[in-house]
Amino acid sequence: MKTINKEAILTALGKVQEPELHNDLVSLNMIRDLEISGSSVSFTILLTTPACPLKGSIEKAAREAVVGVPGVGVVNIKMDSSVPNDGRLRGVLQLPVRNAVAVASGKGGVGKSTISANLAVALAQAGARVGLMDADIYGPNIPTMMGVHELPESKENKLVPAEAYGVKLMSMGFLVKPGQPLIWRGPMLNSAIRQFLADVEWGELDYLIIDLPPGTGDAPLSLAQALPLSGVIIVTLPQAVSLEDASRGLSMFQTLEVPVLGIIENMRGEFFGSGGGEELAKIARVPFLGAIPMESEVRVGGDTGKPVVISMPDSKAAGALRSAAQQVAARISIEALTQKNAPTINIV
Ligand SMILES: Nc1ncnc2c1ncn2[C@@H]1O[C@H](COP(=O)(O)OP(=O)(O)O)[C@@H](O)[C@H]1O
Ligand SMILES: [Mg+2]
Repeated sequence: MKTINKEAILTALGKVQEPELHNDLVSLNMIRDLEISGSSVSFTILLTTPACPLKGSIEKAAREAVVGVPGVGVVNIKMDSSVPNDGRLRGVLQLPVRNAVAVASGKGGVGKSTISANLAVALAQAGARVGLMDADIYGPNIPTMMGVHELPESKENKLVPAEAYGVKLMSMGFLVKPGQPLIWRGPMLNSAIRQFLADVEWGELDYLIIDLPPGTGDAPLSLAQALPLSGVIIVTLPQAVSLEDASRGLSMFQTLEVPVLGIIENMRGEFFGSGGGEELAKIARVPFLGAIPMESEVRVGGDTGKPVVISMPDSKAAGALRSAAQQVAARISIEALTQKNAPTINIV
């Protein structure tokens, strides 16, 4: 019987590409714990996100490559992940948060909070450690949408985030009485948001999703500047007026040099039409992350504190939201690993 050596296996795996990161699994340091025993080979593929949209096809390609090595019988592959840290937050706030991702829109009412909540839950369902920060200080809707209305008791001068569906939550809505008007001035905004990060016991997070205030006014601007973001997602309706607003938002973030992870088109359907967000992504040369259909289950889910990926996981909208969450996760990995001046690939 021919004995198999590790080099032969690694050579085979070195021909398997990670299609989005444009490099092979071995160069990306994704092959771990390679062991050979007789004719059986086992190893772990360490992806950059548990929500990797290509998980299945990468596993299949790796298996085919290894089975092709002479002498190999059984191939055991374990799929694991470690989300890369782009280091932006670490430098500024000393937080154990790997990636902060803002969800923005040109205007209110386009589904920014709905998308933030569902993306956060979908990423947590995929196995990531996720926080959701409601930075929409004028209209904090996240407590209602996630069905949680108070915070646990604080510990040692730190706020303990609430938790729902595996997601850690913080919102101004927890700190003020319902119906109380929220009036903010620029500097207060900035320090409130820093406190929301620094004074909250987030723990280790792969993704912190931030529901930003709508529009391109002072509030979203100062928030985007106060935080070292891994990237921003722009939510728009499919129709022209909303697209103009979205395009203004997009330019604002590009001016601030915040990476635009892409555009999500929400409420696609007969009422608002379809394709506008996709078109805008093409024109602006940013990724299109997906279209979410307009379905009443989405609204009902938000109103009753059960995001549609929980309340109706088999609905079209839930499927579209899960797929958008995978695209977001993939874009974050790509940004982190292909960043200008990135020191070295940062998969730990
Ligand atoms: N895809 C969708 N289908 C149906 N209703 C939706 C959809 N997305 C959002 N909604 C509803 O539209 C309203 C506005 O959404 P919301 O997330 O609060 O917007 P924003 O945060 O941008 O102001 C909410 O009632 C929400 O339930
Ligand atoms: Mg909102």
